[in-house]
Amino acid sequence: MKPSETLVSNPWHFVRPALAEAYLQAFDLKLSSARGLFARRRMGKTEFLRRDLLPAAYERGYLVAYTDLWDSRLSPDSALVSALAESLEPQGIKAVLAKLGKPVRKIKASARLPGGVEGALEAELAAPDTDSGVALREVLRQLDRQKKALLLVIDEAQVLARADHGDFAHALRASLDIRKDRIKVIFAGSSETTLREMFARASEPFYNWAALEPFPLLGDEFVAFTIKLMNRMARNGLTIEQGQHAFEELHRTPEFFKRFVERYMLYQFDGEEAALEHTKASVFSDESFLWQWKGMHAADQAVITLLARGETDTHGAAALERMNALLGKPTTKNTVAHALRRLQAHNAVTRLAFGEYRIEDEAFAEWIRRHSLAKR
Ligand SMILES: Nc1ncnc2c1ncn2[C@@H]1O[C@H](COP(=O)(O)OP(=O)(O)OP(=O)(O)O)[C@@H](O)[C@H]1O
Ligand SMILES: [Mg+2]
Repeated sequence: MKPSETLVSNPWHFVRPALAEAYLQAFDLKLSSARGLFARRRMGKTEFLRRDLLPAAYERGYLVAYTDLWDSRLSPDSALVSALAESLEPQGIKAVLAKLGKPVRKIKASARLPGGVEGALEAELAAPDTDSGVALREVLRQLDRQKKALLLVIDEAQVLARADHGDFAHALRASLDIRKDRIKVIFAGSSETTLREMFARASEPFYNWAALEPFPLLGDEFVAFTIKLMNRMARNGLTIEQGQHAFEELHRTPEFFKRFVERYMLYQFDGEEAALEHTKASVFSDESFLWQWKGMHAADQAVITLLARGETDTHGAAALERMNALLGKPTTKNTVAHALRRLQAHNAVTRLAFGEYRIEDEAFAEWIRRHSLAKR
């Protein structure tokens, strides 16, 4: 299936053809067959993968498959198998179902609806009596018969690192291993910590399998593009500098910047500062942050507050003293170590280097800063 068929076109999308080209070229050169890329939340990974990379790969003659494992974190196996199957023609899908002993007739009826074959397929694959390992093997067998190579994009790939998906992850790795020249894989995710573990731990199925690298972030060109497009529709335009100022204030997060632009468009006469204030207040005061916060141990709250204030060294004497002040009682290094471990397990914090940590979600970090100021 052509990737663009599943997406509504969007004039606000800032295209990144050069970046897509760079990834595809690296695959063409056969330097690597798998790559892992990470960036913080809301930075544009998914948009790039779906709107730039996959269509470019398709144009180059690849079969393409995409799956977001977060959407199906309970059954990543059937999500992955159906993503692979979707890259096949209906004929291939039917062959897979026949092999699995599934009713092909049911599929024929629903195939007339757009997405009918795939939808029915996913339902069949998720059925409790389907062995995902067998299904994977059958889909790959069909793919082996194709002339084209396949680009598989696994978004929110950290889900595969969970222990309960270990068997499937091992099977997947083994299947991909022997098809390295025909199946290229991109793993993407927002949790650097978990992705690192996936590729760096000898006991993990994807150990040493993909190079992990930061996803190049959107910057000035994206801002200029968006502001110019907005100015064509707005009565009172903004300057590029005003746009850049807002982008900085929103911690260079594309999603928040888009919300600012939307707010400004709707309330132009209130001006740019008002739109920025409104956006900041809404994105950095998300109710879910309060829940996340309330669910934390007191020690975790204290540690993450230090990180939010920009203190990367959490083990030093000065840090411990500030922890004491925050908690109202003496703290030990051990308490801090436990808190950091829990924060990482919950994907709230990433370890950058030895003893150096960062909060994954910049919006949460900003929320914590505001919250701790308000309490003082
Ligand atoms: N290339 C782009 N052009 C225009 N807007 C973009 C672009 N990339 C991202 N955005 C904006 O940022 C938002 C978040 O992007 P996206 O969902 O791709 O981020 P992500 O890194 O996948 O985040 P998460 O880790 O939460 O899944 C989009 O909904 C869109 O508004
Ligand atoms: Mg995403």
